[in-house]
Amino acid sequence: MTAVVRTREELAQARAAAQGSVAVVMTMGALHEGHATLLREARKHADVVLATIFVNPLQFGPNEDLARYPRTFDADVAVCAAEGVDVIFAPTPEVMYPYGQPQVTVHPGPLGEVLEGAVRPGHFAGVLTVVGKLLLLTRPDLAFFGEKDYQQLTLIKAMVHDLELGVEIVGVPTVREADGLALSSRNRYLSEAERRAALALSRALRAGAAERDPGAVLAAARAELTGLDVDYLALRGADLSEDPAGGEARLLVAARLGTTRLIDNLPVHLDGTTEKETA
Ligand code: PAF
Repeated sequence: MTAVVRTREELAQARAAAQGSVAVVMTMGALHEGHATLLREARKHADVVLATIFVNPLQFGPNEDLARYPRTFDADVAVCAAEGVDVIFAPTPEVMYPYGQPQVTVHPGPLGEVLEGAVRPGHFAGVLTVVGKLLLLTRPDLAFFGEKDYQQLTLIKAMVHDLELGVEIVGVPTVREADGLALSSRNRYLSEAERRAALALSRALRAGAAERDPGAVLAAARAELTGLDVDYLALRGADLSEDPAGGEARLLVAARLGTTRLIDNLPVHLDGTTEKETA
């Protein structure tokens, strides 16, 4: 039985009743197979699985898609029930932010200013603030996040480490359609033509990941992105440090298809290091 709780009091009661290890999967709803995979991983590793569904206004900029962000609550509850979630915490903005815009937020530091952070100012402060609050409210042993939002995952790990939040953060590889498109709640905005064009992102990452030299990685990826409105294509260390020093690195891309912005990334294994980032 999956219980839906909406207030802090109901959540506290559900949390107090939880026995054994607790895992949380935080979402903004519009659940797809990527979220179902996170829930399944959580189910494998903990006695109690808690999912949160909250479209966090704090992480959307003034010209972003907060108003049109898909809200599919009944279908989301069905996904959670099918994956054996014990408790869904689905607060309103008033429950999460009872005093309105919070005065104190989590500052993501320099990594919050680059890549997604350069295009979406304030985004990661909004993400880290709500993730921090949800971790404190749910007090899990483990929290599962998708590698699809690799910069978010990296920053959440840094926050947990730097602020001693005492929870294990587990990254889960991106789930893709058979043709390579990374699953995203925003894919539903794409027209057929945009969806076809969007395949260039995963193609570019795969082409880059087949190379071992940083310059060749970027050149191979860039060649697949011709004609696309690319925000960034970047090769970084696995921890998103600026100098991928050989070994495991990460190739990341963001592009606009009409009014929709998509991001994707893949691990890359490097032999050496030269060129790092292109616009
Ligand atoms: O990845 C998301 O869906 C959101 O950024 C998160 C982690 C649920 C915070 O609102």
